Amino acid sequence: MTAKIISGVDTAKAIRAELKQEIAELKEKHNVVPGLVTILVGADPASQSYVTAKEKTSKELGIYSERLDIPAETTEAELLALVDKCNKNDKINGILVQLPLPKHINEAKILYAIDPTKDVDGFHPVNVGKMILGEQCFLPCTPHGILEMLVRNDIKTSGAEVVILGRSNIVGKPMANLMLQKRPGGNATVTLCHTRTKDTVFHTKRADILIAAVGVPKMVTADMVKDGVVIIDVGVNRIGKTADGKAILAGDVDFDAVKEKASYITPVPGGVGPMTITMLMKNTVQAAKQAAGIL
Ligand code: GUN
Repeated sequence: MTAKIISGVDTAKAIRAELKQEIAELKEKHNVVPGLVTILVGADPASQSYVTAKEKTSKELGIYSERLDIPAETTEAELLALVDKCNKNDKINGILVQLPLPKHINEAKILYAIDPTKDVDGFHPVNVGKMILGEQCFLPCTPHGILEMLVRNDIKTSGAEVVILGRSNIVGKPMANLMLQKRPGGNATVTLCHTRTKDTVFHTKRADILIAAVGVPKMVTADMVKDGVVIIDVGVNRIGKTADGKAILAGDVDFDAVKEKASYITPVPGGVGPMTITMLMKNTVQAAKQAAGIL
């Protein structure tokens, strides 16, 4: 079997077209322009490229966007003051503080300082709690994007054995929770593997859907999966540079070998990445509508 490629680019394009229309209508009917601020502390090249992509997509869709690049030496108190300023700025509906933050800044302290109604990353405990309870909230962008990819590509999740590799707060933990909920893209039986899992391959081999979010290039090999598996590769690993200085990317999955066994597979790049950014835009529009009392 050679896998069908699930294109995050194409799926994202369809959702972005819907959003662009919605944003134009918001402006026309309600004079509402969603606003997003991205805050980048320091100059990590990967983070810079993510923030650039978020800013570019905002502009393409008609979202007002502010980008605040501040020095790596910024203190925790200074960053808290900046977040507070954004909380109080009516032009801003969504606040994104790019992670990871420099070591001297307490990440939780910053994320908890963001107004939950502007927490378009879905990382604030209020939104995390609501997500677990299945209430209306901002869903974290990467897991939300993966759900959309599964649903829009008609991949059956109900009753499926889903195995997730990696227990991060950004991907693994919320992904596991969303996929067990009674919702589109949910109703699955979920196993979450991590660095202390006794026999990871035992689990990966029985997965109907395998989601890899570990940050280890090509960790998932063909002998670890069963025929017909659906592979969602969240990894974005920089494994080298081209002659003209561009990063060479690899996922957490050995794409070339695994695609010969899988039924569906997401590529890297062009898989989960564009979906994450798109769901950030969707959350920003949701935040703007909520702020304006439009439901
Ligand atoms: N770093 C890696 N992924 C993310 C994300 O989804 N949001 C933020 N804020 N930082 C990240």
